[in-house]
Amino acid sequence: MPSQITVSAPGKIIISGEHAVVHGYPALVTAVDKRIKLYVSTLTKSFSVDPLSSKKFVRESITTLRNYINSPFGKLNIVINSDIPIGRGMGSSAAYAVAISKALLLMSGKNSGSENTSKLAYELEKKYHGNPSGVDISISTMGGVLWFRKETEDFKIFSRVDIKQRLPELFLYDTGKPEETTKETVGHVSELLKKSPSKIDKVFREIEKVSRGLLEYITRQKNYDLGSLLQTNERLLEELGVVSPSTKLLIRSIENMGGVAKITGGGGLKKASGMILIYHPVRDKLVNFAEKRKLRLNVVKFGAKGVTIEK
Ligand code: PMV
Repeated sequence: MPSQITVSAPGKIIISGEHAVVHGYPALVTAVDKRIKLYVSTLTKSFSVDPLSSKKFVRESITTLRNYINSPFGKLNIVINSDIPIGRGMGSSAAYAVAISKALLLMSGKNSGSENTSKLAYELEKKYHGNPSGVDISISTMGGVLWFRKETEDFKIFSRVDIKQRLPELFLYDTGKPEETTKETVGHVSELLKKSPSKIDKVFREIEKVSRGLLEYITRQKNYDLGSLLQTNERLLEELGVVSPSTKLLIRSIENMGGVAKITGGGGLKKASGMILIYHPVRDKLVNFAEKRKLRLNVVKFGAKGVTIEK
């Protein structure tokens, strides 16, 4: 059993299906090249966490995991290094949950295969999010691109997706950290579903159609217009009320110059809505638009590897 280990896990982008996935509809999701890296060691006399600001959060997660792993792992020194933006819909908390679960399973000599790691990480994710679909945990564990569906609380299915299409460049822009947590935006949609079940179920079914279209597009089974699929997805998310007024305004101005954009992840209701995913058929037009408005764009790289033990 190792007494020190470094584990890394990726963040993610939901290409289509966020929110609907909580209610049993599928999602298309990719791991991205932003990772959390955890160095965990038992060669220590006291519990320590770097950065110190994460100590309370880490302590709580260890307490939860101890109950499941059922093995004493003594005092821990944990150093966290992450370039996944926090609270922006890129799965930072799930990546942490996956990395710490994998590290502690390994250090206590337990089976740390992907099924066990993701099961354990899911228990932790429930602590932060209440009713997560598990899509963030699965993609951070498995990496690549996945088609995912939560059938029941304990039964989730997914399939690896091979990208057969040379995808055009997609960009991310950070509208800022939403005031609401993912737990709150998920709660907001669940309330809407309770109030107007047939209307919201219809929105979810439409989202599923878009997700299937995107799946068929990237696996080259059918020739769809990527822009209109993403735009439809955004409109449906707006119907769920998870896109803030200022983010809608920005997305409308992207549409006015020929592009499309959608939120990705939980979104945000009042002010910011986290990351938005942007596509423009004429790349340079988007780049000029962003330069003029001083918007920092990042290119999305699809299909990063899942949780990994680092040398
Ligand atoms: O905002 P994030 O990165 O936690 O993504 C959440 C995705 C949701 O579909 C809104 C919630 C879930 O558990 O699937």
